[in-house]
Amino acid sequence: MAYVVTEPCINCKYTNCAAVCPVDAFREGPNFLTIHPDDCIDCDACVPECPVEAIYPDDEVPEKWEHYIELNERLAEQWDEYVINETKDELPNADEWAEKEKSESDIQEEW
Ligand code: SF4
Ligand code: F3S
Repeated sequence: MAYVVTEPCINCKYTNCAAVCPVDAFREGPNFLTIHPDDCIDCDACVPECPVEAIYPDDEVPEKWEHYIELNERLAEQWDEYVINETKDELPNADEWAEKEKSESDIQEEW
């Protein structure tokens, strides 16, 4: 099992989650974070830290976001060298994006 970052994170990237992870499981992309499933120890610490409720255990991901399970794994591999374990400023307009509809096509994969 592992925890999974889902759609609400896109274009927000508040990063509160990354600072509390005891095993540095988070990887950073330009406008989204993922959790590396090989690193996550299912401790649940990150879930309450996210102001937009983007993080779920993989067996509780809402159906509409189930494809994020595979996406986290793929992007965590792609961004493997971009470990993030501290909080940084959220993205500009994060609070506006928190209210908007988004989709995985909004994720910037290339740094
Ligand atoms: Fe890290 Fe725990 Fe969240 Fe997994 S559940 S990503 S180990 S804080
Ligand atoms: Fe994203 Fe929430 Fe973490 S917005 S960066 S999952 S605190």
